Amino acid sequence: MIELMNVTKTYGSTIKAVDNLSLVIPDGEIFGFLGPNGAGKTTTIKLIAGILNADSGSIRVNGKDLREHALEVKKQIGFVPDTPNMFLRLKGIEYLNFMADMYDVSTEDRQERIQSLAARFGMADVLQDRIQSYSHGMRQKIILIGVLVHNPSVWILDEPMTGLDPRSSFLLKEMMREHADSGNTVFFSTHVLDVAEKVCDRVAIINKGQLLFCGSMEEMKDHFKKNASLENMFLELTESESEE
Ligand SMILES: Nc1ncnc2c1ncn2[C@@H]1O[C@H](COP(=O)(O)OP(=O)(O)OP(=O)(O)O)[C@@H](O)[C@H]1O
Ligand SMILES: [Mg+2]
Repeated sequence: MIELMNVTKTYGSTIKAVDNLSLVIPDGEIFGFLGPNGAGKTTTIKLIAGILNADSGSIRVNGKDLREHALEVKKQIGFVPDTPNMFLRLKGIEYLNFMADMYDVSTEDRQERIQSLAARFGMADVLQDRIQSYSHGMRQKIILIGVLVHNPSVWILDEPMTGLDPRSSFLLKEMMREHADSGNTVFFSTHVLDVAEKVCDRVAIINKGQLLFCGSMEEMKDHFKKNASLENMFLELTESESEE
């Protein structure tokens, strides 16, 4: 469960990247966070992951306040950033062991999880190679496996489908569904409406840091019909879909 209450984040003194945002994402839900470039998606995600501090407002994860219980909350979160170009000098397996060490995953558990996740994502044969030799999609997959190694209850993914081949993208969606269905929370951002439509239980639309809509896909379509400015946004999102 993720709760944001009146969260605001300003860069410098002028850019209000997130503007008084309130959202509740209950357990068991895949929640899509939609918006055009520069809308404030990544900033919101970094606030939830505890990488940035909000200027005001509060964030709770599984009932615990992020500020008061930072470490405890971070252990429950699996965060996949939008730029997978980290730790390039490490071999895939070194990176996965590093992540497992960070989160105190036992030797037994990590072996089992690394093996099964690497097999599922077709990465088993490249774990001995350095990450810098990986393609963009492979880098994304190794980051994803690294996050899942510690089995976090709350998944927070920034544009996770970008760069994945259809098979991996399908697999990730399937895993997101399984994870939510076993009572966990999945929060991911996308600017591709089509992706959201296929997997989300509910979506929010953000633009210029402000929440424009939050509800089911059905409700969203209904809402667009009645609201001209939202219809433009819908077009924008649909356009970016066709460009992909
Ligand atoms: N480190 C930063 N310093 C200053 N301004 C920033 C910084 N990061 C983001 N911004 C600004 O904050 C606003 C929101 O950016 P953010 O990255 O959260 O958008 P986004 O919805 O993730 O966009 P995209 O779809 O392009 O990933 C933008 O106006 C952006 O220019
Ligand atoms: Mg972003």
